[in-house]
Parts: sequence; C-alpha cells; structure tokens
Amino acid sequence: MSLAFSGRSVLVTGSSSGLGAAAVRRFAAGGAKVWAAARDQERLAEVAQGCADLPGEVRFGHLDLVDPASCRGAVADAVAAYGQLDVLVNNAGRHDFRVTTEVTDEQWATDIAVNLSGAFFCSQAAIPHLLEAPGGTGNIVNVASVAGVMGEAYSAAYTAAKHGIVGLTKAMAVEYLREPLRVNCVCPGGMDTPQVHSIDIPDGTDFELIMRVAATRGFMSADSVAAVVAFLASEDASAIHGSVQVVDHGRMAG
Ligand SMILES: NC(=O)c1ccc[n+]([C@@H]2O[C@H](COP(=O)([O-])OP(=O)(O)OC[C@H]3O[C@@H](n4cnc5c(N)ncnc54)[C@H](O)[C@@H]3O)[C@@H](O)[C@H]2O)c1
Repeated sequence: MSLAFSGRSVLVTGSSSGLGAAAVRRFAAGGAKVWAAARDQERLAEVAQGCADLPGEVRFGHLDLVDPASCRGAVADAVAAYGQLDVLVNNAGRHDFRVTTEVTDEQWATDIAVNLSGAFFCSQAAIPHLLEAPGGTGNIVNVASVAGVMGEAYSAAYTAAKHGIVGLTKAMAVEYLREPLRVNCVCPGGMDTPQVHSIDIPDGTDFELIMRVAATRGFMSADSVAAVVAFLASEDASAIHGSVQVVDHGRMAG
C-alpha cells in the first residue's frame, strides 16, 4: 500500500499533547518517520508508544522554544535520526489570558518566544534540509490561530505572536517562490485540547469579549485539525503555498 508520507521525515514541535500529538499520530498513520519534539519526555514517550502499531516510526527528543539553540538542536536531532527532513510543523504554543496592563516583561517575552520566535528559529535551521527533500516536496506548516487573523481579548501577546506567524508564513512563502519549498499556515479556532482546559481567566474578565472568538458549533477535535495540517504537508497540496488556512467551525464566516 502506498502511504502519503512513506519515506518522508517530519518534525512536529510541541507534540507531547493536543494538536501536536494528534499530528504525530496522523503522520505516523501515513507512514512518516516522525521526530516529536517538546519539553516533557515522559509524555512524548506515551505519544510514541501510542503510535507503535502505525506504519510509520516515531522517535522523540527535547525542545524548549524559548532557546534558539534548542530549536536548532531539535532540527539537528531529527536530521541525525532520519538522515533528512521533509516537513516541519511549527505547532507548539502557549496561551494565557491576561489583562494588558498587567502583563509582565517576562510574560510578554515568553509568549512571543514560544508562539513566534521559536517557529522562526526552527524554520531557519530546517530550511537548508527542506530544500534538499527528494522531489522538491519540502514544506513547513505553521500553526497560528484565529487570533492570527482577528483580535482576541486579554491575549495581546498571543494575538500579536499569532499575527506574526501569519506574517512569517507569507514572508517565507514569497522569499522561496523560486525554490522547492512550500510554507503554509493553519489558523484553528477553539480545539478541545489541554491548552483550553488549563487556561486561567483573570479576575474581572468580561466574558462577552472573550466569547467573541468562540464558534457556535463549539470546540473542534485535535484530530480534525491535524487532518488539515497533514493535507497541507502532503503532495495533494503541492499547489498550495503561502496560504493561511482558517479551520474554525465557521467562526470567521460571520
Ligand atoms: N486549543 C485551541 O483552542 C487552539 C486554538 C487556536 C490555536 N491553537 C494553537 O494550536 C497549537 C497547539 O496547541 P494545543 O491546543 O494542542 O495546546 P497544548 O497545550 O495541548 O499543546 C501545546 C504544546 O506546545 C508545547 N510547548 C509549550 N511551550 C513550549 C516550549 N517552551 N517549548 C516547547 N514546547 C512547548 C507544549 O508542551 C505542548 O506540547 C498551539 O500553537 C496553539 O496556540 C490552539
């Protein structure tokens, strides 16, 4: 049987839970050699164990996106493990609701590092390898958010960073127009993942403002968004480059 990702290697950041873990499973089901990277090695081991029966292969290692050297290290680990890198999924992210006037310098710096700068440093390290992908199939899928295309209350750093991911996607897409590299972006709406269950709402929050990003159809599953990530990374999407794909249960429709 021919699988979409047979012989291809894929690095997924933030793959210890939620969308990242779902993407690891999806790529492994498609026959990929997956490098799962995050901070929590125990949870990564569980994700890898959960893929044991799938046709692909899953190995894992450390990544802390606040450290550019760690981003470069994760790319080097993936290449060392599989001898090539065909797909980078910049998935990892963090989101805390905070009143703008109460955001500390450190919180701002961490939110921008994890949600934006880390994706840049991983991409920068990965691009030379992606350009060598057999058949010119190398590509990056960035995970932004509907907060990358609309404002989200109490989320200034997150929203700024996710708009930055959309900009990063477009800038790289134009820069590599003449070379065999695709760069695309997914903007999920609310997904049922640990991120939404661990969110702390500040005192005095105006829920009507927060709910402006919520979809009438409710939360999506991580698997349903991982399917779109895998599609964009696959050769079925070979004509899609520089796109910003909203996946939001219809929220942005109005
Ligand atoms: N859940 C939602 O409603 C939603 C909506 C829109 C966009 N997103 C985005 O989807 C992506 C996946 O989020 P999720 O919902 O699966 O959340 P999640 O909390 O389940 O997963 C986030 C992942 O990022 C990792 N991570 C966080 N900080 C890191 C760091 N410093 N270094 C390395 N890894 C780090 C976490 O360990 C985890 O593996 C994120 O970019 C998030 O912003 C989520």
